[in-house]
Amino acid sequence: MNIILLGPPGAGKGTQSAGLVERHGMRQLSTGDMLRAAVKAQTPVGLQAKAVMDRGELVSDEIVSSLIDENLAEMKAGQGAIFDGYPRTAAQAADLDRILAKHDRSLDHVIELEVDVDALVERITGRFSCANCGALYHDTANPPAKEGVCEVCGSTEFKRRPDDNEETVRTRMQEYRAKTAPILPGYEERGIVSRVDGMAGIDEVASAIDAILA
Ligand code: AP5
Ligand code: MG
Repeated sequence: MNIILLGPPGAGKGTQSAGLVERHGMRQLSTGDMLRAAVKAQTPVGLQAKAVMDRGELVSDEIVSSLIDENLAEMKAGQGAIFDGYPRTAAQAADLDRILAKHDRSLDHVIELEVDVDALVERITGRFSCANCGALYHDTANPPAKEGVCEVCGSTEFKRRPDDNEETVRTRMQEYRAKTAPILPGYEERGIVSRVDGMAGIDEVASAIDAILA
């Protein structure tokens, strides 16, 4: 099973991917996470991507498509892939078709998380994650059960993303509207798009996604 989770910044792609990994043993392929790891490791890709990401603009299609290709190459044939934050442009959508064919895979579902744009800034500015394992939290919507302690690994160190400020979020939204939303009609023509109410609670969204995959 290979699926795309599509939705604007803050829609819940990362949150729902983590649940799918846990429930179904799928692998999350988040180009955002891969790029942040490259920035942290100061690789050539990371050095190139950092300023673009800090502005909220899109990194080049070549860079992100090669990251996806490399990661898919490492996966076992039977393991399902969740594309989180990829593809984001028409060129990336075409790349993905090519890359999937190369790895003998095909796309089963494109799941769009429908969200109210006004709520996204609040979601993003309230987001933080565990500095050790990356588990995602939110100040009010999804805090750790015990304040200051990660539920997954017990770490007490947390961090916030440098691009999670109001100004950058607005640019990221614009990029989504201008470049990413237009790839949906192509998938609709193939009859593989499903929509989920991304404003529902995290568990409800997860159940709706499971119903689509069942
Ligand atoms: P990326 O990391 O992909 O960021 P994004 O698309 O902006 O999406 P986010 O990660 O911000 O949101 P999300 O949907 O994962 O939401 P989350 O689950 O965290 O990309 C970052 C940058 O990298 C880009 O700007 C670009 O520069 C570059 N990049 C990456 N991929 C690229 C590509 N393919 N091409 C070119 N450039 C690329 O949830 C958000 C918050 O809400 C959390 O705090 C969570 O706890 C909370 N929450 C989640 N679900 C719910 C719910 N149902 N109810 C209440 N709260 C919720
Ligand atoms: Mg994310």
